[in-house]
Amino acid sequence: MSAGQPVDTGLTRSATFLVFSVLQTDSSMRAVRSVLSSVPDITKNISIRDTNANLTCVVGIGSRAWDSLMRLPRPAELHPFPEVRGAKQTAVSTPGDLLFHIRSERRDMCFELERQLIEKLGDTVQLEDQTVGFRYFDARDLLGFVDGTANPVGPSAISDVVMISEEDENSNATTVGGSYVVVQKYLHDLKAWKALSIEQQEAIIGRTKLDNIELEDADDGQQQSHKTLATIEDASGKEHAVLRDNMPFGSPSTSQYGTYFIAYSRHLWVVEKMMERMFLGNPRGLHDRILDFSTPITGSTFFAPSLSILKRLGD
Ligand code: HEM
Repeated sequence: MSAGQPVDTGLTRSATFLVFSVLQTDSSMRAVRSVLSSVPDITKNISIRDTNANLTCVVGIGSRAWDSLMRLPRPAELHPFPEVRGAKQTAVSTPGDLLFHIRSERRDMCFELERQLIEKLGDTVQLEDQTVGFRYFDARDLLGFVDGTANPVGPSAISDVVMISEEDENSNATTVGGSYVVVQKYLHDLKAWKALSIEQQEAIIGRTKLDNIELEDADDGQQQSHKTLATIEDASGKEHAVLRDNMPFGSPSTSQYGTYFIAYSRHLWVVEKMMERMFLGNPRGLHDRILDFSTPITGSTFFAPSLSILKRLGD
């Protein structure tokens, strides 16, 4: 099995999310290929200055750029993020050919990696979004809840959820060891959220706020919590998880409070089904109440290939 990119490093104190469009010229594609292939080396070069800081970077490639950039067979499920139009909110689909998910315990390490990447990419790319996320106390989102609890734990459980293997239907030499990645940048209306009682907030999330204890699911046909809407099963009743590495971001002085959602999965349909249940509701019409207080302003899908594919891109 090909080694994956460092998807499973877990939540750090700091993270930077960079989404770019690539200029559609042969010379830009060539230059970008060379930069992407050197990401593991650039990261190693910086991380050696403080190995305890756990600096990592995962690279994702979007659907539009796949053919011209990668020149390899497409991952079977890869397509642009599909817009989901709900009654309250729309999960918007926004441009993105490249994703860099930079993580470290140290903000300066994330900064340095971003700086070197930007310098190398030069004018071959156009920035679509840059978000700097931070750990908020005991890994809470800005709604005040611990975020990431239901993630798989341990190398084999994580790779089972995120990594495409030879046994997967439609897998090929390009996709084995890789993962689909979905990102969405949400802004919260914290004033309205804080006007709710703690019990109302807990019912929306599906966990208690202080102790982070899971609440019972509502009866079928009733308004479901976020936790329940985001729990999905396939036709055989098997539950499918994803690996989330959400980070809070924002600036109190400009009243910007947000959550950067990022999910890795071996199957793209799993994330898309979660999204549909949240935005359209289950049953239809009873959407995720988190969306009454959270507006997505970006939405993009990528494929993070295995390390060996990434390194060979510059050949
Ligand atoms: C669970 C927050 C968006 C998928 C949770 C939990 C919180 C949370 C606090 C409970 C603790 C945990 O297990 O992590 C948020 C916030 C979001 C957001 C603030 C953005 C406004 C999303 C989206 C998806 C998603 C867009 C998927 C498309 C999940 C899943 C779980 C979860 C799979 C675990 C469910 C389980 O218990 O099995 N989220 N979330 N979340 N969320 Fe979200």
